[in-house]
This record gives sequence, C-alpha cells and structure tokens, in this order.
Amino acid sequence: MEVVETIEAMRQARRAFGRVGLVPTMGFLHTGHLALIRRAHAECEQVVVSVFVNPTQFAPHEDFESYPRNMDRDLALLASEGVDLVFAPASSTMYPAGYNTFVDVYGVTDTLEGAARPGFFRGVATVVCKLFTIVQPDRAYFGQKDAQQTVVIRKMVRDLNLPLEVVVCPTVREADGLAMSSRNAYLNATERQAAPVLYRALTAAQQQYLAGERDAGTLRDTMQQVLAHEPLAQPEYVSVADLHTLQELAWVGDSGALLSMAVRVGPTRLIDNIMLDASRAGAGSRASPR
Ligand code: PAJ
Repeated sequence: MEVVETIEAMRQARRAFGRVGLVPTMGFLHTGHLALIRRAHAECEQVVVSVFVNPTQFAPHEDFESYPRNMDRDLALLASEGVDLVFAPASSTMYPAGYNTFVDVYGVTDTLEGAARPGFFRGVATVVCKLFTIVQPDRAYFGQKDAQQTVVIRKMVRDLNLPLEVVVCPTVREADGLAMSSRNAYLNATERQAAPVLYRALTAAQQQYLAGERDAGTLRDTMQQVLAHEPLAQPEYVSVADLHTLQELAWVGDSGALLSMAVRVGPTRLIDNIMLDASRAGAGSRASPR
C-alpha cells in the first residue's frame, strides 16, 4: 500500500491506475468507513482512501483540534483491507498560504446540518471538490449516515459536471443500533448507553410510517417523545424532510421522506437518519461480525 502526502505524488500514482474508487475520510476509521472501502473494491480496479481532517468544515468553536486521530491504526486497517493508495495531505498542502477559493452549493445547504453548522457544507464541498480534481476517481463512495452531505455532493457533481459517479452506501450500526461514527469515541460509558436513543426514535417513527401514518408532525412528535425519555439526550433538531430538497414536510407523500436528527448526548453532538421509502424499510444494515 502506497501512502502519499503530496499532490504531485498522488497524480503520478493515479496515472498508473485504471478504474479508481475514492473513499474520502477524516480518519479514525471504523466499520462504516470499511464498508465503503469494500464496496469500492467490489466495483473498481484500484481503491484510493483519503485521510484528511479538513479544517474548513469546522467552525472556530467546534472540535477540529480534539477530533480523534490515529494515523498508525488507520494505516494498519487500510493495509489489511488491501487499499491501493492512501492520500494523507497536510493542511498546508490542501490550503497553502493565500488559498482563497471555495465551493458553495446553494438550495440544499440552508436546512438541517447546514442551518445548525453555518459554513460546514462550504468546507465539505470545497475539500471534496479538491479531492475529486486531485485523485480523479471514476467513482466516489459516501455513507448514508451523513444524508445531507450526500445530497450536497451529488448536486455539486451535477452542477459542476464533474466526471465521476457518486455511490451512497447504507449506514453501518453497532448491535444496539447506534450509527458508527468517529465521534462516538467522545462518549463516556453512561453516554454510550444513552446514545442508541437516536435510532430508537427514528425506528419508532419509521414503524408508525409503515403502519400508515403520513402526518409529518405526528412523526416528529413520536421522535421527540422517545428522545424525551432519555435524560442525557438534548435534541437540536428533529426533522421529516423531502428526500431531495431537504425542506420540512407537512405530509409524507408516496415519494417518501428523510427522518433525521441532531442530538447532544452529554457534550457530544450525534446525528442519525433513516430514509422512509414506500418500497423498502430503508433502516440501513447492522454491523456484521468480522
Ligand atoms: P468522515 O466522518 O470520516 O466520514 C467519511 C465517510 O464515511 C462519509 O462518507 C461518511 O458518511 C461515511 N460514514 C461515516 N459513518 C458511517 C457509518 N456508520 N456507516 C456508513 N458510512 C459512514 O464525512 C466526512 O468524513 C467528511 O465530511 C468528508 C466527506 C471526508 C470531507 O471532509
């Protein structure tokens, strides 16, 4: 497995590759990341994984400094997955002095995570666009765990005519339903026990939907009520939104909806979602023992 830190070395390695799958990550890898890598392996000739904690997607008060990092462990995991190349640039490589160009995706970034974290998607779209032009993948793999991120990236790819295919993979969960996340490392034992309440709230609303409920307000109330039973959980938002526009719905029609939420469990901010799709359950896959 090759590990490169410069853009020149990345481009040179790319020239020898065929059909490349890119998995962009911020490291501190877990089974959710590995699921994207395995899917990329199944569909592409070479797999490139980027490991870069992107400073432009963190607000000054957020956790950029404390974001969990463990490059040695990540590289061992990536090698055991048979990844062909790891691109791990320094911040100064991606954003040299005088850097001043950003990608703003309008229309789908002013709600949900975009409303809660102003500037977040500007940072995400900018770094992902740069990764696409540096690595030049044929396909890029993202997780449904960050549902709005997938909508933003797909729109950017369409609007800017970027020559690649975006593949979205199901959310990988712990056995108790908690969506895997690098930030789960912040949870202490009591908080970790409380954290599956997000998935319980989502599945309660999903069950109601599958039983025929279509009033979005009722589905939101159900999620809020489940969350209210967990004293450590402080909801930031609870949403029933259109799958494409991400605008809040009053009524869930035949095209389905995105149930999503951001909840603080103690000091840690967790997000999760489930797609309501009239034709399938859409709850994502459980982690299978490796
Ligand atoms: P990060 O949080 O490291 O996630 C990297 C990729 O893994 C994202 O596409 C994310 O949706 C996916 N992922 C995370 N948890 C998952 C889970 N439990 N199941 C399935 N997929 C999961 O998302 C980012 O980094 C950054 O914003 C990035 C796209 C790399 C840009 O900096």
